[in-house]
Amino acid sequence: MWDPTQYERFKDERAQPFHDLVSLIEPRPRMRVVDLGCGTGELTRSLHEKLAAEETIGIDSSETMLLKADSFDSEVLHFKRGEIEGFVADRPFDLVFSNAALHWIADHEHLFARLVALLAPHGQLAVQMPANHDHPSHRIAAELATSFGLESRGVNVLPPERYASLLHHLGFARQHVRLQVYGHVLHSTRDVVEWTKGTTLTPYREALSPERYEEFLAQYTARLVEQLGEERPYFYTFKRVLLWATF
Ligand SMILES: C[S@@+](CC[C@H](N)C(=O)[O-])C[C@H]1O[C@@H](n2cnc3c(N)ncnc32)[C@H](O)[C@@H]1O
Repeated sequence: MWDPTQYERFKDERAQPFHDLVSLIEPRPRMRVVDLGCGTGELTRSLHEKLAAEETIGIDSSETMLLKADSFDSEVLHFKRGEIEGFVADRPFDLVFSNAALHWIADHEHLFARLVALLAPHGQLAVQMPANHDHPSHRIAAELATSFGLESRGVNVLPPERYASLLHHLGFARQHVRLQVYGHVLHSTRDVVEWTKGTTLTPYREALSPERYEEFLAQYTARLVEQLGEERPYFYTFKRVLLWATF
């Protein structure tokens, strides 16, 4: 159960990688676009408008995130509830796009092969994924999850060079793959908790009772502050993989 209000607490910071990803796309006339893991749909609408696309479909498995998306729904911009893993379409897309969603899915070699099958012959793939699993914000969360008897989230994102090879082997003629470090100036170290509450901690909140989750947050905050120090402001470094490819 995603919480759009918590997710949007760092809306501007989270939007920057989206804009960087969009700038990699080659706009073409009358594009048919799919946005996998579209969330609240706000950025899907922005993508649709920026490309002046003929049709854009947003797919997301979260009912709460899609509640807001419904207000953007039109004849040429649609949103559907569904799992990315099982998504199939009866017509190919000129652009398969995904911003900050595919890192939730395992086995990227298999997943990317499926995404390629959704593309038209001259189609483009554009994907952005967080790759911050070695930062204390993510590492401590995973360690604590284990000590709370939960399955910790696995690391699904591959090193950037593996995507470059994968895209080549999947038949793309041109590609751009990079690891980018985004630096976010947060009010204090404790704000890192507010950041991860909107994303990384979501499955742990779902799996624990409200009391146990409060306990989880208290221990998580204490360990974070112990490791990172009580800084004001706190400079939060966040790594992301951005990739684009076309045939
Ligand atoms: C961090 S949000 C990003 C949302 C949007 N792309 C953005 O940039 O604002 C991740 C989204 O991916 C969705 N998601 C995660 N795993 C998914 C899956 N397997 N199938 C469909 N949606 C998924 C979540 O519901 C959530 O809305």
